[in-house]
Amino acid sequence: MTTGIPLAERVRTLEGSPTLALAATAKALQKAGKPVIDLSAGEPDFPTPEAIKRAGLQAIHDNHTTYTPAAGIPELRSAIAHDLSKRLAVPYESSQVIVTTGAKHALYNAFQAICEPGDEVIVLTPYWVSYPAQIHLAGGRARLLPTREGERFQPDPDAIRSAITPRTKAIVLNSPSNPTGALLERDRLKVIAGLALDRHLTIISDEIYDRLVYPPAQPCSILHAEPAVAGQTLVVNGVSKTYSMTGWRIGYAAGPKPLIEAMGALQSHSTSNPTSISQHAALAAFTQPIPEVDTMVREFQQRRDRFVNGLNRLPGLSCVMPDGAFYAWCNISRLGRPAAEIAARWLEEIFVVGVPGEGFGSPDHVRFSFAASPKALEEGLTRLEQWLRQHQTAS
Ligand SMILES: Cc1ncc(COP(=O)(O)O)c(C=O)c1O
Repeated sequence: MTTGIPLAERVRTLEGSPTLALAATAKALQKAGKPVIDLSAGEPDFPTPEAIKRAGLQAIHDNHTTYTPAAGIPELRSAIAHDLSKRLAVPYESSQVIVTTGAKHALYNAFQAICEPGDEVIVLTPYWVSYPAQIHLAGGRARLLPTREGERFQPDPDAIRSAITPRTKAIVLNSPSNPTGALLERDRLKVIAGLALDRHLTIISDEIYDRLVYPPAQPCSILHAEPAVAGQTLVVNGVSKTYSMTGWRIGYAAGPKPLIEAMGALQSHSTSNPTSISQHAALAAFTQPIPEVDTMVREFQQRRDRFVNGLNRLPGLSCVMPDGAFYAWCNISRLGRPAAEIAARWLEEIFVVGVPGEGFGSPDHVRFSFAASPKALEEGLTRLEQWLRQHQTAS
């Protein structure tokens, strides 16, 4: 069918999220009966904890099924403010918190609220796939700043300093990182905070994986490193990863009141409010003990150790041990082909699904998720080993 509807310039070159597309392909192949090992998922493979599910069901029974205030129900905003004040050691009031339709939407609203046309936003590479797209949709320009694997993906403060121009509006931090699992170190965060204070930059700190950190590593927010930067920092987080609630679509952001109000106004004209039932379910995550989180973190740590050590034993691959999140950022550069090609061959030839690194800004890596069953992870390693040995013999 030909269409007569001309598309706006800002979406003409916009591609859908590669991670979501790949997850859909993996599911379709699985449905078609292929023996797929899906290591592409950006979500925990645990069910949502019982207490949270019960709260969701109760919300339906109690008829919490109508619109809510655009920025979220007051009880949830207040519970989040309390939780963040405790964990970040910076006092937040409810009015400084907004509940959103996933952390993704908090980020989307934030860029819409701060970017003027042509404003630059510094994004460290490798980056989560949606930052550049969202900045572009807000009329801004992502200024990509590489970090190096040899430096465990820590940003170089001098490089950040030289990347700042009069058009620089903000810097995005994501610790622990998707895709690398790296935690930004306190001393680097302190320097970045100093630069932000000097140059009046907004900091968007995406801390969605902050509870998925593997001891002895400790999560460190920019607000732990330098509380003085709180007045110009938007902390973004959500329940998707910590509480295995990706489908419930609840995220949140906390920061200066005028920014939160602007994001609320945007929300009131777009989604109206995050789903009422999900908000009541999320409230349970903040007000009831959820022991499943610790169990999940312990399990992820064991899987990480086995899987990443396993990758490092395979010919041609290497992987820095991630300190957080649930991704193995596997270096494939010794295979001599770009990640898009390698990942496509693994998908077609051995049905192992990893996400090619191009979407995260690196053709030298494939991202595997270890939020998959230990059996699937073992089988993935076995198939990769066979493929790599065959490939080496063939070349
Ligand atoms: C770094 C990062 N930020 C934000 C999100 C968005 O999470 P959600 O919208 O499910 O809360 C994700 C999800 O994959 C992520 O990896």
